[in-house]
Amino acid sequence: MRIVMIGSGYVGLVSGACFADFGHHVTCVDKDANKIARLKAGGIPIYEPGLDELVARNVAAGNLSFTTELSEAVGAADVVFIAVGTPSRRGDGHADLSYVHGAAREIAAALDGFTVIVTKSTVPVGTGDEVERIIRECNPVAEFAVASNPEFLREGAAIEDFKRPDRVVIGIEDERARAPLEEVYRPLSLNRAPVLFTRRRTSELTKYAANAFLAMKITYINEIAELCERVGADVQEVARGIGLDNRIGSKFLNAGPGYGGSCFPKDTLALMKTSQDYETPLRLIEATIAVNDQRKRAMGRKVLNAIAGPVRGRTVAVLGLTFKPNTDDMRDAPSIAIIQALQDAGAKVRAYDPEGMAASEAVLNNVEYAGSAYEAAEGAAATVIVTEWDAFRALDLKRLAGIMADPLLVDLRNIYPPARAEEAGLRYVSVGRPG
Ligand code: UGA
Repeated sequence: MRIVMIGSGYVGLVSGACFADFGHHVTCVDKDANKIARLKAGGIPIYEPGLDELVARNVAAGNLSFTTELSEAVGAADVVFIAVGTPSRRGDGHADLSYVHGAAREIAAALDGFTVIVTKSTVPVGTGDEVERIIRECNPVAEFAVASNPEFLREGAAIEDFKRPDRVVIGIEDERARAPLEEVYRPLSLNRAPVLFTRRRTSELTKYAANAFLAMKITYINEIAELCERVGADVQEVARGIGLDNRIGSKFLNAGPGYGGSCFPKDTLALMKTSQDYETPLRLIEATIAVNDQRKRAMGRKVLNAIAGPVRGRTVAVLGLTFKPNTDDMRDAPSIAIIQALQDAGAKVRAYDPEGMAASEAVLNNVEYAGSAYEAAEGAAATVIVTEWDAFRALDLKRLAGIMADPLLVDLRNIYPPARAEEAGLRYVSVGRPG
């Protein structure tokens, strides 16, 4: 199949490279000439494990190319995916669809022969209808069908998630879209991934419903963690105890500093707005958003409470800045609110992150950066683990205790058994666990 991917960001680039790896001919388009030049030169604009090798292999095989010229690529395509950004609109929290609509207009002008146009970006219910209307208006004689095919990959595990998904969801209104999309995803049938065909609006809502459910699940265990701390219970064991029930499932029950990233915060907000517009408020999602926002700030207070005495002028080491490991993405990272709370109390923050320090400079102020976890912890009043990078999973805790001014480790990801940290001479504070 000849596939065009409009937007070479996270989803576009990973999906494009994976489709190319399945043997399709993929052209990734982006308006950002610098990004395209970098990709053409073999550079990858994001950090995602395995992506550089995947892109290089498929470029060399002639299956994957990059361009800023949308019209030529679209004219020759069987299927065009729209994978441009849908950020939160400033002011009202609705998804900003200007990039999606802009792409639709440009596609309309370039169509040549029957083409399936697919929204892969996370878009509110009804966006497919609007894309169809725009294309029809711009090009009344075009032969096309508009489908919805949301992406469920996670950053940091994107290639594996794309190639071995739990399911693929495709929403169509025009039966002519079915065969080309079956062909696009045929290589996945070897992995027995269910491909669910449904209506377009159902598919669009499925994506939001999935992300909001996961955000709610994390928020639920975070609230249970709070209660655990009060009643002297262990949230890790509660999570295991409930997660082994297949109806609940063990994933996404890790208590932590609150969810962040480019998806859950934006998508829960957009879903809430949609539900309010349709006068069917989703109260569980409203509560999830509020509880998660409060939690990020509360984690800063948790650190301040754990530090004995005044913090003004003292250094706090922060390990992990990105919203999760294996990414350099700082969007809505809990570290931002935590560092703000520490700085508001007068603390100096020294941070280390294996991949996120460059990206963090745009969102953090007055942070000193260190070259390693130990360098960050030198002379600190507390060391705080905010993101569970592998590099922090086997720290030499005795060494850590020895180099800090006060041997206090606040572990917001519950990486260490409390007894081990205490044996190493650390005062250890974690999330939802006794001691
Ligand atoms: C999420 C979904 O997991 C993907 O299925 C979806 O495709 C993607 O959004 C998207 O809409 O594009 P992602 O944001 O990359 O993926 O990362 P997650 O692994 O879901 O983590 C999100 C946040 O939840 C992180 O801040 C993470 O630390 C937190 N989290 C996750 C927890 O605090 N506890 C958990 O048990 C799991």
